[in-house]
Amino acid sequence: MGNQLNEIANAMVAPGKGILAADESFGTIEKRFTKINVPSTEENRRAYREMLYTAPGIGEYISGVILFDETIRQKTSSDISFVEVLQKAGVISGIKVDLGTKAMDGSPDEKITKGLDGLGARLKEYVALGAKFAKWRAVITIGDGLPTDENIRQNTKDLVAYALACQKAGLVPMVEPEVFMDGGHSMARCGEVSERVLTAVFEELRSAGVEIPGMILKTNMVIPGKESGAKASPKEVAEATVRLFKKVLPGDLPGQAFLSGGQSEVEATENLNAINKRGPFPWNLSFSYGRALQASAIEAWQGKEENVIAAQKAFLHRARMNSLATVGKYEGEGI
Ligand code: 13P
Repeated sequence: MGNQLNEIANAMVAPGKGILAADESFGTIEKRFTKINVPSTEENRRAYREMLYTAPGIGEYISGVILFDETIRQKTSSDISFVEVLQKAGVISGIKVDLGTKAMDGSPDEKITKGLDGLGARLKEYVALGAKFAKWRAVITIGDGLPTDENIRQNTKDLVAYALACQKAGLVPMVEPEVFMDGGHSMARCGEVSERVLTAVFEELRSAGVEIPGMILKTNMVIPGKESGAKASPKEVAEATVRLFKKVLPGDLPGQAFLSGGQSEVEATENLNAINKRGPFPWNLSFSYGRALQASAIEAWQGKEENVIAAQKAFLHRARMNSLATVGKYEGEGI
């Protein structure tokens, strides 16, 4: 089992490839669709995701896709399951297994992730449906006196419980502690909090017996808060992020795939590229973007069949730019 998980983990972060996060919950996809005036019906969600997954040559840049519970059960208009379509394109299917967040008891401005109840049974079903990896997202909020030690402790404990359950079920855990970009905090504060969180997460993962070579990390870059008014250059983001990772990431971790967290499409690519220019590292540093891979594509799509080709072109362009950034070879949008 160990070797198999390690092989999948390595394939997920292979140089030149990254992961498409298309696991938006019902609430999140509705927000995205509202912007283009498309109602969030089951058929529209299906059609949108079919557009992404059937983009010609997707497997050249994309190693894996994170699906949502509804999506892993859906099919293309020609009646082929999404998992099969992806597999034929050389793309690994993964699944979001957390059930979103709720306010933490005793500290309502912080969040705890739901979904541990009955997780073992759900994982078994996802394995039967063809999933090879599973994502769980914990969010850490920076604020006045936040995050609390208790919030980090609880989120870490839940991430570890989920990661153990995944490996037991034969799935690669994609462990996602996200330090929120929202807020007026500085880049240094993001770095401090990320260090606290990642240190706790790896200590607990290891002591609970999670096999580090059979998992992937998904986390944030070290970046200033969105409302801080500060702007960090790709070089600054790269320097701070790499410094942190060298301190806290274990050498036997196959790789880390960044979330975009509210960065623009080009920003997310430039920052990833600057990070990889500082390599090589013991781990591959790749992408697992949601918004930063889909923003132009959804805008081009507009819910219309006649826009599918233009939308796929927009998506593949972003995928290619980020593919170049995984090897530090992105030189601007023109190429
Ligand atoms: P963003 O890249 O839009 O932050 O989404 C990635 C993700 O999967 C967050 O869980």
